[in-house]
Amino acid sequence: MPTSYAWFQKRIVPLEEARIPVMTHAFLYGTAVFEGIRGNWSDERGEVLIFRAEEHYERLRQSAHIMHIGLPQSARELTDITTRVVEKCGFREDVYLRPIAYKSGEVIGPKMHDVDDDFLLFVLPFGNYLDLDAGIRCQTSTWRRVQDTSIPARAKVNGLYVNSALAKTEALQNGFDEAIMLNDDGHVSEGSGENLVMIRHGRIITPARSDNVLEGITLASVLQLARDELGLEIIERTIDRTELYIADEVFLTGTAAHVSPVVELDRRAIGGGGVGPITAQLQKLFFDCIRGRNAKYAQWVTPVQPAVESPAAAKA
Ligand SMILES: Cc1ncc(COP(=O)(O)O)c(C=O)c1O
Repeated sequence: MPTSYAWFQKRIVPLEEARIPVMTHAFLYGTAVFEGIRGNWSDERGEVLIFRAEEHYERLRQSAHIMHIGLPQSARELTDITTRVVEKCGFREDVYLRPIAYKSGEVIGPKMHDVDDDFLLFVLPFGNYLDLDAGIRCQTSTWRRVQDTSIPARAKVNGLYVNSALAKTEALQNGFDEAIMLNDDGHVSEGSGENLVMIRHGRIITPARSDNVLEGITLASVLQLARDELGLEIIERTIDRTELYIADEVFLTGTAAHVSPVVELDRRAIGGGGVGPITAQLQKLFFDCIRGRNAKYAQWVTPVQPAVESPAAAKA
């Protein structure tokens, strides 16, 4: 049976054996940085295709650098560890990978220097996060996106996700699918776990990096496809909330969310209220890339052949 495994304290162990002590600094103070990475199953190839693993690990290393967390392994070495764990799990379906670099020392007090660090990773089966076909209904959150002057927004800091948790919970409890957060200036920042893209007059517009957004890897990939495959102009600039109401199309991008069309915001239909034509084209292009069906972007995926359990081992 395929099983979830983890990389924990420098070896591969069954997920249930990966346990941290209650006094771990990262648990006490949120002093950890993480990535979400997808491994997309390809039936044609019989492989799990890890999407942009090295780019995710470069960002993890940047987050760790910002947060004084030691992460000596290179992005290549971290990718190698990841492929070993994915292979060992044996899943023949879409998986989600959660690498975390964290303050593993057991000490009281929030200072980060002179506190031990460690790296762990676990793998789980994972399907769709949002409705990719019908699109999603969003709400402008009453929670503002955390300012870079308070917690670095371009680092994926575990503690920062309290901000996302509040926004996502509020949106779901109010009957919406996802929250769109404004920054302290009142400009559009991003979703609780996604970047935002707006289409107006055939141009792709996304909030400026200085508007407290995470520098998304899905976003970078989709913008590259929009520019290189559809010849669209890309603009990074400040966006007002009401500009989204009159946009032709809006979608969210993220590792979990892929390319999720936003069909309604604050009870106002976006565009025609369905999945817009440019969003649909970008979704198709993106899915072909992540499932390994577009040779031009083959370098975006790291293929892994899941281990097959021997019949003898399965009986034992
Ligand atoms: C707050 C936030 N913004 C944006 C994203 C999208 O980033 P990526 O496409 O790299 O997953 C994520 C998910 O990682 C996120 O948590």
